[in-house]
Amino acid sequence: MVISKLATSLVGAIGLFTTINAQQFRDEDLILCDCGIGDNPDHSEWSTSRQMNWYQDINWPSSAYKYPEAPDMAVEVPFKEGWYPWVPTGATATMPNGDVWTAYIEDGTPDGFKAGSAVTTKEGGQMLNCWAYRGRPVSAAINKTINHDAICWSAFVCNRDNHPPPRPADMGSQTSTLTTSSAAPSTTFFSEPPHTAVPTSSSGGQPVPVPTSTPHTGQLAVYSTVSPRFVNWQSSWGAFINSFVWDQTTGNCVGGPIKGQGYTINVECAGVKIDDDTHMTLLLIKALRDVGLKSLWFNQNPAIPGINGTNITAPSWVVMPEAFTIRATDLSNRNVVGYLSYGTKYDGFLSGPCSACETARFNSDFFDPIISAVQGSYPIYNNFTIEAQCSPWMACV
Ligand SMILES: *[C@@H]1O[C@H](CO)[C@@H](O)[C@H](O)[C@H]1NC(C)=O
Ligand SMILES: *[C@@H]1O[C@H](CO)[C@@H](O)[C@H](O)[C@H]1NC(C)=O
Ligand SMILES: *[C@@H]1O[C@H](CO)[C@@H](O)[C@H](O)[C@H]1NC(C)=O
Ligand SMILES: *[C@@H]1O[C@H](CO)[C@@H](O)[C@H](O)[C@H]1NC(C)=O
Repeated sequence: MVISKLATSLVGAIGLFTTINAQQFRDEDLILCDCGIGDNPDHSEWSTSRQMNWYQDINWPSSAYKYPEAPDMAVEVPFKEGWYPWVPTGATATMPNGDVWTAYIEDGTPDGFKAGSAVTTKEGGQMLNCWAYRGRPVSAAINKTINHDAICWSAFVCNRDNHPPPRPADMGSQTSTLTTSSAAPSTTFFSEPPHTAVPTSSSGGQPVPVPTSTPHTGQLAVYSTVSPRFVNWQSSWGAFINSFVWDQTTGNCVGGPIKGQGYTINVECAGVKIDDDTHMTLLLIKALRDVGLKSLWFNQNPAIPGINGTNITAPSWVVMPEAFTIRATDLSNRNVVGYLSYGTKYDGFLSGPCSACETARFNSDFFDPIISAVQGSYPIYNNFTIEAQCSPWMACV
């Protein structure tokens, strides 16, 4: 595509993010730091300040406990209205030389995965990839209010690479202190309130009993498993969900396997017909779609707002569990009435630290979308129990 390259270099100075040739620091790094962790006696997990460190080209030491060289520039990021800044809505700070940086981060992204982007207006506009890379000491903190010797730890590292910075062998994995015993499933209940018909009076003043439509008090038990290990789906969530193609006659999924970069995802689903408009298969696909939009188990790339209403089209990705199942059982007869799953097969060997279950991700953002989806089976079912668990509890290579 020689022609389009030539055209780009001729008109490149006009648009944001087209001036690739103007990059003065091709190997620059922007580190989004959490500083002063452990300095607040009431909340030892919290950071007391956040800052952005900029490097022409960082050189990471081979030991995880050694500091790299001091940053070329650094700026404190104000804790506006108490919001943690490394989130999808973006945090902006101005470096001492006037360069303005904004980072858009999906903060639930597990370590080692792409978590967002950082944009700057310098040199006509640049965009970096940001990687979740937590827990390496990087520099002294600018904000010394609580502790004069406060340290900054890496949270996210932004660069032009297609991969996160390397992990030294002595870099603690998130899981090293966790036990291998599995947690009990997280559970939530939901009952549809009984629909009571309001008695109406006839013209003669005699109350006419209205037949109360007693809903079938069917109990539906929904059980979901999630792998604690993540995979990077390099397209949109909608594109992934569209791969769940199902046959309305049999209720089964009929789509082929989904090919990702370095892996293949196999999809399975089945379900019974609830009534003329409702099918259990569709309700479970809906449940997965909505869990993927809300839950921290699924991290979508944050949208980068453009200037004057023009959106910047950064490529979509989703960091999601490598395997997921959901099964709906009718408790009156223990029959499975719906099932959906996907699972990943890797082309090569995996390497890296173990991933253990973060049970905190089983919260209302996980359960509520599932409940709303299976409520589509009302009034056949009006009492729902949703249970979720990691399977396996810990995934190692
Ligand atoms: C510095 O840290 C203190 C304590 O966490 C905080 O109250 C203060 O807002 C920080 N300063 C700035 C400029 O953010
Ligand atoms: C955005 O729009 C405003 C008002 O129309 C204009 O003054 C400003 O220059 C525009 N900014 C850019 C970067 O195009
Ligand atoms: C930009 O993105 C937002 C949110 O996704 C959307 O509502 C809006 O219509 C988009 N604007 C343009 C010009 O594409
Ligand atoms: C719903 O199911 C739960 C668990 O089986 C049970 O404890 C509860 O009484 C049921 N509620 C109704 C209204 O049937």
